[in-house]
Amino acid sequence: MANKVYNFSAGPSVLPEQALKEASAACIDFENSGISILSMSHRSKPIDNMFAETEEYLRELMGIPENYDIVFLGGGCSLLFCMLPMNFLNQDATADYALTGVWANKACKEAKLFGNVNVACDTKSETYSRIEKNLNLSDNASYLHITANNTIYGTEWQSFPKPKSGFLMADVSSDFLARKINVSDFGVIYGGAQKNISCAGVTVTIIRKDLLGKVDRTIPTMLNFQTHIDAKNMFNTPPVFAVYVMNRTLKWLKEFGGVEAIEKLNREKAALLYSALDASKVFVGTAAKEDRSIMNVPFVFNKDVVAADKADDLAKEFLEFAKARGLQQLKGHRSVGGFRASIYNAMPMEGVQALVDCLGDFEKKVLA
Ligand SMILES: Cc1ncc(COP(=O)(O)O)c(C=O)c1O
Repeated sequence: MANKVYNFSAGPSVLPEQALKEASAACIDFENSGISILSMSHRSKPIDNMFAETEEYLRELMGIPENYDIVFLGGGCSLLFCMLPMNFLNQDATADYALTGVWANKACKEAKLFGNVNVACDTKSETYSRIEKNLNLSDNASYLHITANNTIYGTEWQSFPKPKSGFLMADVSSDFLARKINVSDFGVIYGGAQKNISCAGVTVTIIRKDLLGKVDRTIPTMLNFQTHIDAKNMFNTPPVFAVYVMNRTLKWLKEFGGVEAIEKLNREKAALLYSALDASKVFVGTAAKEDRSIMNVPFVFNKDVVAADKADDLAKEFLEFAKARGLQQLKGHRSVGGFRASIYNAMPMEGVQALVDCLGDFEKKVLA
């Protein structure tokens, strides 16, 4: 196996080496306390300070105004799919959901348990390969829900839609801090951390303060965002280690130059990979060009060059070929097939260049 491994996994994903080293050291001794971070009380001063610092990093990097609260929770983004409508959608009210992929559908399914849902768009018949901009919005929606970046299909909203009524709610799991967004355009921004900002185990929800407390239902204590805001994310034992990995990853990002600098690199990485795919005779990207994600790049074999009955064997061969060069986790999601390269913040340009070289060399082999 090649010495250097580049991990293109869609999530959990590549994290900055510096953050991993610092987090590893903290597992033995957190900030010279002689105690592992894994064994330290969440009520202790060092952990309290670390949470405050993590929130500060997030506020600074994303430009989160004071009128927004930040909630760190376990349970995964899938728990937020139900918590959000439970906290923001009344039984007799309506929420608009833009169905641009599997995760949007999962979010929508949960919302139906709590109120009415209007499907603002649904591109399922096109295997979610593009983002529909012509939305069918309701007059009195409590909010419009979007998935900012569709991890599986490799599409992203290049500019965000404006809700007709209510506020904009976005799942940013797979493009958290990958590009500059204007937080004030959103009422709620949320996502799992395990792609761009930490390991699995913690989610981040950013909530405009005036939006909570408007639903009539009784919300179980643990599922009420207000509980966690009031308790400063210490209502129960929070996922301390995952928050610390986030802290170190955000510190790395700040040192890197912040979101503007990483967005520039992300766009350069994506441009390099897409131009290689566009020039390729053997591989072809699956997402509509104008909606292409800078984080997740799905691609398949060109059907005109690779016959359908040869594709499975050749796909295995390509994955082995890539793996031998240290390029791992390139298998596509089952609903798109083929391959997917996730090129999150911590993927260096060298990794993308290595992939582009690999695609070129494999192509030569196939066409020989
Ligand atoms: C955009 C998006 N939302 C939600 C999820 C679900 O996250 P979790 O596994 O944390 O529930 C994923 C997982 O890949 C995702 O990509």
